[in-house]
Amino acid sequence: MTHPASSPLIPKAELHMHLEGALESELLVTLARRNGVPLPTYDPDVLDARYRFGQLQDFLDVYFDNLAVMRTAEDFHDLAALYLRRARENGVTRAESFFNPMTHVGAGVPLAAVMEGYGAAFADARREGLSCDMILDFTRDLGAEAADQMLTDFAPFRDMIIGVGLDSTEVGYPPVLFRDVFARAAADGLHRTCHAGEEGDPEYVRQALDDLRVERIDHGLRAVEDPELLKRIAAEQIPVNVCPLSNVALRAVDRMDRHPLFAMLDAGVPVTISSDDPAYFGGQIGANFAALEDIGTSQEVLIGCIETSFEAAFIDAGERERHLAALRSAV
Ligand code: HPA
Ligand code: ZN
Repeated sequence: MTHPASSPLIPKAELHMHLEGALESELLVTLARRNGVPLPTYDPDVLDARYRFGQLQDFLDVYFDNLAVMRTAEDFHDLAALYLRRARENGVTRAESFFNPMTHVGAGVPLAAVMEGYGAAFADARREGLSCDMILDFTRDLGAEAADQMLTDFAPFRDMIIGVGLDSTEVGYPPVLFRDVFARAAADGLHRTCHAGEEGDPEYVRQALDDLRVERIDHGLRAVEDPELLKRIAAEQIPVNVCPLSNVALRAVDRMDRHPLFAMLDAGVPVTISSDDPAYFGGQIGANFAALEDIGTSQEVLIGCIETSFEAAFIDAGERERHLAALRSAV
C-alpha cells in the first residue's frame, strides 16, 4: 500500500456534504463585511472556538444564523468555489453536494442568485476536471408544503440538480411527511437520499426506505439498533453515507472507536465516508479518513469504503469504471 486512504493521492467520492457547511470563518467574516451583516465577532479564530455542540440542534442554530451573510450570486459562487477547491485538495474526484435553498429564499435572496452563484462555481470545477453535481436538500422543519413549493419553484433550474435530499432537525419531522414531494421528484427523474437515523430512531430509516424510496441514506446510525433493519439494508445494498467527525462533534456517537459504521460494515452494509459540514466539525473528507486511521481502522476497510463511494455515486457505468480504475492504480 503506497498511500493511506486519507491521502489526497487516493481518489474518492464525497456524497454527503452540505455546501452551506463549508462556510469557513474567514469567508464568513469576508462576506459579513461585504454585505454589512453584523457578526458577534470578526475574529475567525474566536468564531471557530465557538463551534462546540451538545447535539444536532446546537449546530443547526449556528449554521442557519451564519447563513445571514449569504446575499448575492457572488457569495454563493465564493462558497461553492472554496469547497470545490478543498475537495480537490483532498483527492475528491466525484462530488455530490447538498445545498439548502429554502433558507436563502426565506431570507429574501432570489433563487436565481443562489443557482447562478453555485452553478458558476460547479461549471468552473468541471472545466478543471472535477466531476461534480448538486442535490437540492429540503429543510425538514419547514414542513412538506414548503418543500413541495420549493420543488415547483425550482423548475427553471431543474437541470442543475441530480437529486433531492432531506436534512435539518430530524426528530419530530419523520420522512413519511415528505412522501408526496419525494414521489414527485422521482417522477421527474431525480435521485433520492435522506438524512435519517442521525438522531431519529430506526423507524425514521425504515420510512426513508419505504415511504421516500430513497437510493441512499445519510448518517443512518441508529439503524444498528434494529438487527432486522440492518439486515434489510445489507440485503438491498443501500449505501449509507457516514460522517465520522460530524457524529462525534454532535455527540451522536460518544467515541470514534464505538462508531456504528463498524457494525454496519460487519453486517454487510455499503458504507461511504464524507465530511458533512467541514467548516464546523474539524475537517474535510481527508481528516475524516485520518480520524478512522488514528483509531486503527485497516486500510483494506477504508479503501473498501472509497470503492463503495464510487459505486454509490449517481453516475453512469462508464464514469464509475474510470474512477474505480484510477483508484486501483493509486493504491
Ligand atoms: N444533519 C441534519 N441537517 C444538516 C446536517 C446534518 O448533519 N448538516 C447540515 N444540515
Ligand atoms: Zn448532513
